[in-house]
Amino acid sequence: MHSSKDPELWLAPFRGLTNRMYRNAFARHIGGFDTMFAPFISGIGSKKAHPGKLCDLLRGPGNLPPTIPQVIGSNASEIILTGNVLHDMGYEELNWNLGCPFPRIANKKRGCGLLPYPELIGEILEEVSGKLTPRLSVKTRLGYHHPGEILEVLRVFNRFPLPYLILHPRTGLQRYRGKADPAAFERCLHLSDNPLVYNGDISSRKDYQKLKTLFPGQTRWMIGRGALINPFLPNEIKGVLLDNEEKDRRLRNFHQEIWEGVSAMIRNEARQLGYMKAVWHYLSGCKQSPRQAFGQIKISKNTREYLGAAELALQQPFSDDLAIEDYFRGLTA
Ligand SMILES: Cc1cc2nc3c(=O)[nH]c(=O)nc-3n(C[C@H](O)[C@H](O)[C@H](O)COP(=O)(O)O)c2cc1C
Repeated sequence: MHSSKDPELWLAPFRGLTNRMYRNAFARHIGGFDTMFAPFISGIGSKKAHPGKLCDLLRGPGNLPPTIPQVIGSNASEIILTGNVLHDMGYEELNWNLGCPFPRIANKKRGCGLLPYPELIGEILEEVSGKLTPRLSVKTRLGYHHPGEILEVLRVFNRFPLPYLILHPRTGLQRYRGKADPAAFERCLHLSDNPLVYNGDISSRKDYQKLKTLFPGQTRWMIGRGALINPFLPNEIKGVLLDNEEKDRRLRNFHQEIWEGVSAMIRNEARQLGYMKAVWHYLSGCKQSPRQAFGQIKISKNTREYLGAAELALQQPFSDDLAIEDYFRGLTA
């Protein structure tokens, strides 16, 4: 029997996808995650916070699971303002995104674009220390251009008592291609004075078990695409195995809540469908014929067509673990 804290599973943030509505629906109908990370906030300003940027993080009955907000950028004043405003809203921790690989971000020394500049990372950390009220954790990759960049970056991090670093062992240039590199993670484990959290390519219970064998002392894991494809994965990792009837019931409720939420939140039909297509881009992988399921959803042009295609997808049997892994590898290739 596992203790409730081992493994401790965290939902990875996905900008444009894992918003509050998605996170709440997941927590209410599927479960299995101990903590969820909200997608990054940027451009809040450095003097007065732009309230529109914080909607996703409003507390109260609207935010079910324990949630950690995230910021991206290299402007210390902006990081401080974001964190302190969020602290006033009740958040004890702010996560700093040093992993986003997209050139639009990285070319401006944001996300993993900061990793080739360890001295700048150090200056930013110095500047926020003492002024930022919530504690600051970090999510990072091995480097932007090459995996050796992390060595200098870890030396900088070692000068600061961070609660932990979440490490996705790929470089920025790799984006999601190739495989996450557990050996590189292990090297970092030895070099980091701050605790590390593993993030990358966990798409099945078997993947988790392999990694747990490699890192027996590791208790905290962040999971992204594997859980967007198969939402039952965190429960499966914790040994909670549901029968197909129960999975079907939960998936339908999950989908229904997201759909209702999206319909209320977004007025424009094309944008509603755009969001649901992004959800199914992953979710269809838990069904027996993902291509068919997603293909119909992808071409739907209005609500009626979408709901028909979603119903057909929901009616499909669940795929087995191997097929899910295959779908995952297809997304990663
Ligand atoms: C479309 C997309 C959006 C993402 N948005 C964020 C984000 O806002 N913040 C972040 O730290 N990582 C973001 N990520 C990275 C994921 O959180 C995660 O680190 C990555 O998918 C690797 O984990 P996985 O192999 O378990 O999916 C994003 C990834 C994708 C594909």
